[in-house]
Amino acid sequence: MTMPRKRVLSGMQPSGLMHLGNHLGALENWKSLQDQYECYFFVADWHALSTNYADTSRIREFSRELLIDWLAAGIDPERSTVFIQSRIPEHAVLHLLLSMMTPISWLERNPTYKEKQEEIKEKDLSTYGFLGYPVLQAADILLYKPDFVPVGKDQLPHLELTRELARRFNDIYKTQVFAEPKEHLTKFPKVMGTDGRKMSKSYGNTINLSDTEPVVRQKLKTMVTDPARVRRNDPGNPDICPVYDFHKIYSPQAVQEQINKDCRTATIGCIDCKKLVADRIVERMTPVWDARGRLSKDPAYLNDIVTKGSNRAGEVAKATLHDVTEAMKI
Ligand code: TRP
Ligand code: SF4
Repeated sequence: MTMPRKRVLSGMQPSGLMHLGNHLGALENWKSLQDQYECYFFVADWHALSTNYADTSRIREFSRELLIDWLAAGIDPERSTVFIQSRIPEHAVLHLLLSMMTPISWLERNPTYKEKQEEIKEKDLSTYGFLGYPVLQAADILLYKPDFVPVGKDQLPHLELTRELARRFNDIYKTQVFAEPKEHLTKFPKVMGTDGRKMSKSYGNTINLSDTEPVVRQKLKTMVTDPARVRRNDPGNPDICPVYDFHKIYSPQAVQEQINKDCRTATIGCIDCKKLVADRIVERMTPVWDARGRLSKDPAYLNDIVTKGSNRAGEVAKATLHDVTEAMKI
């Protein structure tokens, strides 16, 4: 007899376009999990409202682009269930039920709550929904009873709160409805943006999966390098050069070693060095771009994937919610 596969669930917010940093971190990780686990991956469009409620104009577009990026990068809808949060009303229902038993202090002490509010000063985030963000995330997770939730370090407080809510619910209603999910930590390689800071959409320094080849080449051309290397014959220091960080990801070991030497002796210039890494990135991204092109031209196929995925996810969500309302006797 074969054991049922363990289950994995994760989501991403459609709050912007995916960039190389997201690709090499979260998405590559999701892709590899498909071989071993029963995977559920969803677009957390309601979560995007927590910071974008006043301007929802691009959420649909970003949701669609996110799905295209996932499929183009190798998320396989034959093996993984791909869906959109807002298609499954059970997420909202469970969010409401959990909110009734969530102490406000648990939410107020959540570090990302304060950090994000500090970070995003231009929006009014003193809302009920923003405070309750982790409760919605707990609902997303608990509905599917996953064994693992692949997330970055920043999401660990949310996962801890999810486990606390699962325990509280089970205690109050004398039930075993919810299992406590474990994190599956995503290792993010160091990916620098074109300005030398960490690649992040809030810095406007990203190279996106949806960028075309000329755009990617242009962005690399204008990328900052070792700032001390002003003239062609100044020696450079790859250890502090963000372009070299790309070589470490995309270039073969031998090329890295060569550049490391040639940069320090000013044997290679930054223009040539950037061209080398641009060629590698283009090579690696070309299959993704080709797949993106095909998917963008076939909205019927995309709709079909999402409808099938949402139906499948909806079945699981309904069954869990049934057990929840039974346990609560409502
Ligand atoms: N909060 C997550 C993020 O910003 C997105 C998310 C929403 C999520 N619901 C989830 C991740 C459930 C994992 C599981 O990255
Ligand atoms: Fe950076 Fe390459 Fe220029 Fe050296 S040669 S400073 S590694 S871009």
